[in-house]
Amino acid sequence: MRKTIVVYRSEYGYTKRYAEMIAEELHCEIQEGSNITIDDLKKYDTIIWGGGLYAGGLNGIELLRDSFESLQGKNIVVWATGFSPGRSSEMQKVWRHNFTDSMLAQIHTFYLRGGFDYQRLSVGHKIMMNGLKLKIKMTKNPGEDERRLLKAYRIPEDHCDKNNLSGLVEYVRSL
Ligand SMILES: Cc1cc2nc3c(=O)[nH]c(=O)nc-3n(C[C@H](O)[C@H](O)[C@H](O)COP(=O)(O)O)c2cc1C
Repeated sequence: MRKTIVVYRSEYGYTKRYAEMIAEELHCEIQEGSNITIDDLKKYDTIIWGGGLYAGGLNGIELLRDSFESLQGKNIVVWATGFSPGRSSEMQKVWRHNFTDSMLAQIHTFYLRGGFDYQRLSVGHKIMMNGLKLKIKMTKNPGEDERRLLKAYRIPEDHCDKNNLSGLVEYVRSL
């Protein structure tokens, strides 16, 4: 297999766990993304980048986006870890929010469902999530996803599962 690296940014460990599972499956290198440079990325043929979703933004994706031109010709695979069910219409919006159309033509994207544990959130994230909770509570008829999220403020959920990886792993193996 060609030279492959998994790079990830993770606040509460869900993306990290997926990154470790992917690296184990593909027997490839893995690195936390905070201090990685464009020159580091250039050494690989395939870059698998993952980050948690925060208000629709992919954690740490700036480096990949800013170095995109320098990574022409490489296989670039990006996954987002989020709490939502990851419906495709919703994810189309997320990808468009994070990348330009020409970038999306070259990137293979995947969504892996992570988890949510309100008690473990940072103060800043708790404030953001409290705002969202209030907004949902003021909604007359909250949808299924909103009701599910409200419940998760009380009962943590964790959907990290090796079975979710098969699409991504098979795609990278096929390269
Ligand atoms: C402030 C905040 C904003 C979030 N925004 C989103 C979001 O827009 N979409 C989503 O699916 N999940 C969202 N989540 C849930 C996280 O993406 C989820 O907990 C994910 O598993 C975090 O992964 P990490 O621990 O690897 O960073 C949000 C969580 C927090 C705390």
